[in-house]
Amino acid sequence: MSAVWSLGAGLLLLLLWVRHRGLEAVLVHHRWIFVCFFLMPLSILFDVYYQLRAWAVRRMHSAPRLHGQRVRHIQEQVREWKDEGGRRYMCTGRPGWLTVSLRVGKYKKTHKNIMINLMDVLEVDGERQVVRVEPLVTMGQLTAYLNPMGWTIPVVPELDDLTVGGLIMGTGIESSSHIYGLFQHTCMAYELVLADGSLVRCSPTENSDLFYAVPWSCGTLGFLVAAEIKMIPAKKYIRLHYEPVRGLRSICEKFAEESKNKENSFVEGLVYSLEEAVIMTGVLTDEAEPSKINRIGNYYKPWFFKHVEKYLKANKTGIEYIPSRHYYHRHTRSIFWELQVRTAPNLK
Ligand SMILES: Cc1cc2nc3c(=O)[nH]c(=O)nc-3n(C[C@H](O)[C@H](O)[C@H](O)COP(=O)(O)OP(=O)(O)OC[C@H]3O[C@@H](n4cnc5c(N)ncnc54)[C@H](O)[C@@H]3O)c2cc1C
Ligand SMILES: *[C@@H]1O[C@H](CO)[C@@H](O)[C@H](O)[C@H]1NC(C)=O
Repeated sequence: MSAVWSLGAGLLLLLLWVRHRGLEAVLVHHRWIFVCFFLMPLSILFDVYYQLRAWAVRRMHSAPRLHGQRVRHIQEQVREWKDEGGRRYMCTGRPGWLTVSLRVGKYKKTHKNIMINLMDVLEVDGERQVVRVEPLVTMGQLTAYLNPMGWTIPVVPELDDLTVGGLIMGTGIESSSHIYGLFQHTCMAYELVLADGSLVRCSPTENSDLFYAVPWSCGTLGFLVAAEIKMIPAKKYIRLHYEPVRGLRSICEKFAEESKNKENSFVEGLVYSLEEAVIMTGVLTDEAEPSKINRIGNYYKPWFFKHVEKYLKANKTGIEYIPSRHYYHRHTRSIFWELQVRTAPNLK
């Protein structure tokens, strides 16, 4: 109880201080207050809500049942647009701030927004090794769902919040792409609602022209309402080998050479200057040397690119065993290096 009182008192003091300094001054000069007391709690609530939601949907097995109903709702919206004369373009109703891209499309304001409320995993078919998902399923959600079942998808673009729809309609790539290709190359079928309101399924053998035209189409051919993605067996760890490489030519050669070696499940290079990089190669494994396990995703661990830089600075190679989900989402916390506060001398 006393904790609640002191938190309340603290917040009150903070509010008084903000009033005294002026909101704008606080936002500009003390951005951390906005981040710590507003953005962070809000984003935690946001994540908790979505995790609870995914858990409840899974417990109740409601996703497959509701899927048909939700798709019909999308078809109704498209037919309504047609009845209105179809003069404006249509676009997905997902607000710009929800997407990973920093750009907020102005077209969302002028086009007819079609609400797509499809964010669940529909079916895991272990026999065919295929998972059928709705387009707003995120990478973080999908690995959390599949990995405990012993499955994963071959190409897991790193950031938790990337969605299946965005990765198919735009594109997706990852450190396993030297084996499996782009995200869309791991997809077996798509289901779309077209501009006449019809629902079609396409695959390499069914409406194949549409199937091959969907990737990179950025939503211009129809609304994606489901996708079938290939699954491969998951393992507990990635055995990651770090190697600093110096000299641009050596960096390129090393990277090309490791990418040709199909024994590497993962190949990634982080380049720290024109002449300095760390090339990492990873292999899926269930066994690990306990002393070399590194849970890099834990909140107190350094950002991944900072961790890797240590190998460059020490000029030494190394091996670590990283729990699979920690590896898949290794750049999520730092959004690669975008969260790093940069000192920009010429901007001062
Ligand atoms: C900071 C940052 C880091 C990134 N990191 C990676 C990375 O590690 N690996 C990687 O591969 N890519 C990465 N990307 C690129 C990213 O894959 C693309 O921007 C991707 O398209 C974003 O997906 P989204 O889920 O945010 O989709 P959105 O931006 O919402 O959608 C992308 C496109 O798909 C269309 N679309 C989405 N859903 C549907 C639907 N249901 N029906 C029809 N059209 C639809 C949208 O209209 C839009 O044109 C990164 C981008 C940023 C900004
Ligand atoms: C790094 O180590 C290699 C040999 O392991 C050596 O040839 C090279 O000079 C070292 N580079 C630096 C910058 O210390």
